[in-house]
Amino acid sequence: MEREHRRLVVANWKMHFVRAQALEYLRVFTERVLRGVHKTELVLAPPFTLLETVGRELQGTAIKLAAQDLFYEREGAFTGEISPLMLKDLGCSYVIVGHSERRRLFGETNELISKKLRAALDAELIPILCVGETLEERRAGKTQNVLETQIRGALLAPSPLLPSPSKGRGAGGEGERLVIAYEPVWAIGTGVNAEPEEAEASALFIRELVDQLFNTEIAQRIRILYGGSVKPENFEGFVRQPNIDGALVGGASLDPEAFAQMAQIAERC
Ligand code: PGA
Repeated sequence: MEREHRRLVVANWKMHFVRAQALEYLRVFTERVLRGVHKTELVLAPPFTLLETVGRELQGTAIKLAAQDLFYEREGAFTGEISPLMLKDLGCSYVIVGHSERRRLFGETNELISKKLRAALDAELIPILCVGETLEERRAGKTQNVLETQIRGALLAPSPLLPSPSKGRGAGGEGERLVIAYEPVWAIGTGVNAEPEEAEASALFIRELVDQLFNTEIAQRIRILYGGSVKPENFEGFVRQPNIDGALVGGASLDPEAFAQMAQIAERC
């Protein structure tokens, strides 16, 4: 049976832009997409400092707001951290969790990521869990092992994140509460994207793993994105794949014209 795609395209601005730049971006971007992009869910993930400014501008539009990270406690003595409640308060719907830059530069482990995922779900934020192998792991033929370790580590320990098959009723809808982004580390910010077929193979592997760990309904409904050097020129190849629902875009999302172009392509795919 053909899966129904629910398109999702996310702009990860990473550590870019101050307020004036964000406002100028939104002026160009919203004008391009508000007419003509209806089925595709669009999400902007600006740095924390811009969430309020961007959130205010997006009010009354269907474009959603995401944070790039969160801490797992609700409040307390955690200098420098941002809680799920604070993100909700600013109008975030989504939050990126376990991005490879955070794993590599800030030592985030699967254990920490698992806590963050649970905290996001508890606060009714939709986590976008990032997984992917390094070049070394890929060369050693370990891609699937790495994906499996990252996904099991994040979704199963210390307890299953989503209901297991035995919980049965209504469990498929749980699949809507989580997004997984397949982002091969070697493709992020390098200009070297994975081939669409290669990304599809990993997306299929992830979907089958979710099926095995939870149930088929959840596996069918969970949205899987590809990320890593996505740009308007290669975007369509990814979103045409049966198991890829959209993209997590870094560098190319900083250009509002380019990001709007990708939103428009998603809309007709
Ligand atoms: P990139 O980043 O599009 O610049 O490769 C993707 C990401 O890190 O999410």
